[in-house]
Amino acid sequence: KVTKEFIQGLPKAELHLHLEGTLEPELKLRLAQKNHINIGQQTIEEVKAAYQFDSLTSFLQVYYPAMNVLQDKEDFCALALDYLKKAKEHNVKYTEMFFDPQAHTSRGVPFETVINGYYEATLQARKFGVEANLIMCFLRDMPAESAMETYRQALPYRDKFIGIGLDSDERNNPPLKFTEVFALAKKDGFHITMHCDIDQENSIEHIRQALLEIGTERLDHGTNIVEDPSLIAYIQEHNIGLTCCPVSNSFVVDDMKGKEMLELLHQGIQITVNSDDPAYFQSYISDDLYALAQKYELSQDDVVQIAKNSFGIAWILEDKKKEYL
Ligand code: ADE
Ligand code: ZN
Repeated sequence: KVTKEFIQGLPKAELHLHLEGTLEPELKLRLAQKNHINIGQQTIEEVKAAYQFDSLTSFLQVYYPAMNVLQDKEDFCALALDYLKKAKEHNVKYTEMFFDPQAHTSRGVPFETVINGYYEATLQARKFGVEANLIMCFLRDMPAESAMETYRQALPYRDKFIGIGLDSDERNNPPLKFTEVFALAKKDGFHITMHCDIDQENSIEHIRQALLEIGTERLDHGTNIVEDPSLIAYIQEHNIGLTCCPVSNSFVVDDMKGKEMLELLHQGIQITVNSDDPAYFQSYISDDLYALAQKYELSQDDVVQIAKNSFGIAWILEDKKKEYL
């Protein structure tokens, strides 16, 4: 039997983590008071009680309004730093963290406030032994023009993030909607990843577009790929991994999708386990891996392989990976 302590102690990389999804009720209340923002709740218990969702859509409806409490550079830094301290407790050596600039610029917070705050936290985390990079995500339910405008806003800060992602509501928002901006980002040398959420109307078609038309280097979620052996062969050949989030899945589709993860893992696909939005799903990376291990009776070898995969598909130099393992 794999223990919680064993899992927590394993060196890990976390590659699917939304910084805005790390907003714990305590910080949310503190920032609401500091910035004089009425969030409709007065106590931790009330905030927690509002964290109710049973689908991606209902989750996003709680998620975006909460971000109002983030106003200045210090707020963004505090948010990321709280997560990075938690990551340290879970023996996360390295993390690539998503952020959603449009969720902030659309409510009047300048792009530079967001990126400078988050980036400052990565500098501080390095001092306590957690290495972190940023991945800028576009909100796929906003127009492609807005993604392009965001990309242009970001270019002066290009040294502060290493990749581009795509998140938010996937319904009717296929990867191809963003062909132009991803092509540009790729040409400019950024890494590319994108969400292919669980059990979407066109999951396989979206995965196909992401892989073959956009040229994504990873799939965030992406377990519906089990339905298409030719796409599995493609990611095997190109060493493209999946960043899976079992507890998040259990909230939004009532299924961890552990069967699919294990099927792929045992075919040699680089499956990883991550927390997605840990404050909302009340599960940090070791909790996710432990929940999966318990429910699907993973062997110690499976768990170790998953941890190794997280470094395997991380966007860092091979020498660095050896150092962390
Ligand atoms: N934004 C934050 N978490 C997300 C998820 N699981 N899917 C899509 N967008 C998200
Ligand atoms: Zn996600």
